[in-house]
Amino acid sequence: MSADWNAETYAAHFSFVPDYGREVIKLIKGEKLRVLDLGCGNGTLTKALADLGHEVTGMDSSDSQLALARRTYPQLEFVKGDATDFNFDEQFDVVFSNAVLHWIDGDRQPDMMLCVKNCLKKGGQFVFEMGGYSNNELIHEELQRQFEARGLKYVMPFYFPTVGQYSSLLEGTGLFVTHARLFPRPTPLEGDNGLEEWMKMFVRKPFEGIDADLCDEIRRAAAENLRGKLYTGGKWYADYVRLRMRAVKC
Ligand code: BEZ
Repeated sequence: MSADWNAETYAAHFSFVPDYGREVIKLIKGEKLRVLDLGCGNGTLTKALADLGHEVTGMDSSDSQLALARRTYPQLEFVKGDATDFNFDEQFDVVFSNAVLHWIDGDRQPDMMLCVKNCLKKGGQFVFEMGGYSNNELIHEELQRQFEARGLKYVMPFYFPTVGQYSSLLEGTGLFVTHARLFPRPTPLEGDNGLEEWMKMFVRKPFEGIDADLCDEIRRAAAENLRGKLYTGGKWYADYVRLRMRAVKC
């Protein structure tokens, strides 16, 4: 969660991330609610929530994403915060989160859920989408093969739970699941090097401490081996699987 972003590159080439999140907003029930956008990134969806009439606060741990969000939407409130350790003086009707929660290690998920629960009013909604079980499985399996072929260890940097695993955690925290869906969403990537660029942007932790040329070689070899499965009709697709849920604080 702590790795910082190149916010401009992210906004220019990976805008599909918030674009898909617009569907998730539709799970929020009610109007003119006080909403926390947890892991708001560059604020695209914080603005979409505000445009629907909600009173919004965006929270993120990345300085570069927050700086871009504040520059782009100076009329909105953005605060810096860690998703596993935060609190607010005034509670929210909704905590919303898109494409963020899989960055939190499994053993820190209960901390995050407790923060969410504590900052929600009674009856408040936790509405989110994240990478779900088997998300990007082909990509991570191939990267693991490439690492191991070079005597390197590939440590999976994400947490992609099943509906059952995540429902148990939520309910154990006192957040009761009212909607849950796990579904594949093959996602088109930009450009001829789309998959390599995607890996460079999103899969960074396993590559830490490895020589830059070797990193490029691994990504190139992985993409070549995945071409048969993830490149069709002149386009790269990432094998995304989404976990979309709504839970309520009782
Ligand atoms: C996701 O949104 O599922 C995701 C994005 C980047 C890396 C891993 C997962």
